[in-house]
Amino acid sequence: MAESPAFLSAQEVGSFAYLTIKDRTPQILTKAIDTLHRHKSEFFEKHGEEGVEAEKKAISLLSKLRNELQTDKPIVPLVDNCVDADIWNQYLDYQRSLLNESDGEPRWFFSPWLFVECYMYRRVHEAIIQSPPIHDFDVFKESKEENFFESQESIDTLCLHLQQLRPARDLSEDRRKEEFLRLLQISLWGNKCDLSLSGGESSSQKTNVINSLEGLKPFILIDDTESLWTLLSKCKKTAETSVVRVDIVLDNSGFELVTDLVFADFLLSSELATEIHFHGKTIPWFVSDVTVHDFNWTVEHVRSSNEKSTSACGAHWADHVRVGRWTYHDHTFWTLPHPYCAMPQVAPDLYAELQKACLVLFKGDLNYRKLMSDRKWEFTTPFHQALSGFHPAPLCSIRTLKAELQVGLQPGQAEQLMASDPHWLTTGKYGIFQFDGPV
Ligand code: F6P
Ligand code: MG
Repeated sequence: MAESPAFLSAQEVGSFAYLTIKDRTPQILTKAIDTLHRHKSEFFEKHGEEGVEAEKKAISLLSKLRNELQTDKPIVPLVDNCVDADIWNQYLDYQRSLLNESDGEPRWFFSPWLFVECYMYRRVHEAIIQSPPIHDFDVFKESKEENFFESQESIDTLCLHLQQLRPARDLSEDRRKEEFLRLLQISLWGNKCDLSLSGGESSSQKTNVINSLEGLKPFILIDDTESLWTLLSKCKKTAETSVVRVDIVLDNSGFELVTDLVFADFLLSSELATEIHFHGKTIPWFVSDVTVHDFNWTVEHVRSSNEKSTSACGAHWADHVRVGRWTYHDHTFWTLPHPYCAMPQVAPDLYAELQKACLVLFKGDLNYRKLMSDRKWEFTTPFHQALSGFHPAPLCSIRTLKAELQVGLQPGQAEQLMASDPHWLTTGKYGIFQFDGPV
């Protein structure tokens, strides 16, 4: 078998990985430090002097982290007692074992980008949990909530649209398919709004996304949505237990999460699926990724909106959760640095869970990088091959491009894109629906 290509890394000066480590990650850390500063009086009110001491400690740990990163120091083992600390430290040993003597230690600008970038967010978590009593403070919470509030108009438009489709099971087959494809596209473009790409600065949805869809179609580089429709229609007919389960591996909170919930609601109301299982993060991650707190907060805020159709959607969602048609799962695997092909070994329970699905949707760029092991595949490599054996169930990546990797393109397609738009891989302007599995 041919050797797998190299990992993306910040070794390549000028690459997107390099610029991320050099510019964006220190910027994100600076913003986290600033957030802690700004909450000082809140910590004091809540915990007295102890709260202020904790704030100082967290800030000093984050400043130390920023310094280690900017001066390309060796990656050090985690020292906290969290359940995943040993797995992280074993992975660091593994990274060490891959190096030649002349390479020295794993370092920020040398080791695989996926590893060091994930490690950065895990160290942010370590800094906070080592600072009781503010150990459950989410330094990214404010920006996630801001993204939600700034997207309010788009959220209302989307909820009104969803309400007008009810009861979706009564729609004609053609209309159901049309809406299925529409809501999938909305969920795709929702992924433009992540906060790690913008260094934590606002990146909310302010235009009417439904009206923009037609104009965005040329930017969908791979569109396997027909296969998704065919698969779900078939699952329904052949389901032995009458259960049709769709799993959604979530990405960002704020507007993107709302687009995912709207799509998930439509899957149920149109009777394309009977159960939706969401997967989120156990700790704050890549600035905007969904935690259980963000999930519940979003459902609650949509439910308590002053806009009638928005609050009606929120009420449906709260009900889905209450009766178990929607289930939220979190698992530490999602915040480990491993590529997904390692899931059967590292998290066999999670792999077995995904195997129960008729379809698994992976939202966003980081999920794509982990599906692809963050390697420099040729642009024309088949998706199935680059998954390197990860096939728990039929799956689809729904992602806007924000990292220098893409597979499954037609010969010449990447070259054409490069000629017309040299930054096509990293701006989030282009998107894909890339499916793997029997239909
Ligand atoms: O590539 C830019 C970046 O910050 C990556 O580090 C990461 O893959 C991605 O954005 C996060 O995007 P998403 O929220 O879509 O996973
Ligand atoms: Mg994200």
